[in-house]
Order: sequence, then structure tokens, then C-alpha cells
Amino acid sequence: MENNPKIAIYPGSFDPLTNGHVDIIERALKIFDKVIVSVMYNPKKNSLFSVQERVDMIQASIGKKANLEVDSFDGLLVDYTRIKNAVAIIRGMRAISDFENEFQMALMNRRLNRDVQTIFLMTGLRWIFTSSSIIKEVATFGGDITGMVPQPIKLKMLEKFPAKKEN
Ligand code: PNS
Repeated sequence: MENNPKIAIYPGSFDPLTNGHVDIIERALKIFDKVIVSVMYNPKKNSLFSVQERVDMIQASIGKKANLEVDSFDGLLVDYTRIKNAVAIIRGMRAISDFENEFQMALMNRRLNRDVQTIFLMTGLRWIFTSSSIIKEVATFGGDITGMVPQPIKLKMLEKFPAKKEN
């Protein structure tokens, strides 16, 4: 590993990190020597948390591991893969609805950098229905997101959206 570690980047908005993301990180760690989870800018989305907040929330949720780095980058993903000497981009795939956008991004990234491969990992079935946006929507209206996000994320979400009191 020392000579030629296989590094993968797991990029995303992570606004916020969900248990589905954690599941993908754990799967990727079994395949690659090192995984870099990187908070990146998606121009199609408005974010709830700042980049630094998201980095801190990810770090607090997954803890320190020798083969895992949490980072952020403001620029093109393919440039970042070069900077980090990564051989792969990891993306989680849930349902068919994810496919079109993921396919388009993977092909564009391949066109921009032929040396990096996009690898899709499937989340566990229990996370198929979760997404940061649906979790944000539930939390906005005071719904319970327990078990869908790591505990540090739940606490940060509760700061933004206090839970509804039961009668
Ligand atoms: O979690 P998301 O929002 O689906 O992640 C999308 C993300 C952030 C990985 C994507 O928007 C991205 O790669 N942004 C960095 C800028 C870039 O390289 N855009 C071109 C993608 S083909």
C-alpha cells in the first residue's frame, strides 16, 4: 500500500450527512486504501449548513480513522482528484431516479479526466429511501429524524429546527 495507495474521493454536498452516506463510506473503506470524503459545491443546490459546518459534522459523526480524511474543495472534482492522486470517485446509487444525473456526471468527469474512474456503490436497502433533502424537509416541520442520521447530525439539525412537542 505504501508505494501506490489506492485513493478514492467520495464527493458530495453532505447537507447534511445521512446514515446512507455513512454506509457508503464504510463500504468504500473496505475497497480502497484511503477514502477522502469531500464536501463540494453543487451549483444546483442551496445549502443549509456552511462548508466548514458540514466538514465538522462529518468528522464528528465518523470519528478519526487512519485511512479516512474529511476535506472540502471549491472547484472542479476532476481537478481535486488530480491534486489528491485519487484513482476513483465514489458515488452512492439508490434508485433509478439517481441514475440519469449520476450517469451524466460520471461521463463528464471521464471526459475531463480519463485517469479517474467513477465507481457506484449501492447503499444498504434500509437507506434506499433516505436523502439529505427529504431529511431536511422532515426536520423543518419538526419531524423525528432519529435513526436516519448520525447523532451529531441530529443534534445540529435540532439546533436549526427544534422538534415538535408531543401533546
Ligand atoms: O451530493 P451531491 O449534491 O449530489 O454532490 C454533487 C457534487 C458536489 C459531487 C457535484 O456537484 C460536483 O462534483 N461538484 C463540484 C464541481 C464539479 O466538478 N462539477 C462538475 C460535475 S460533472
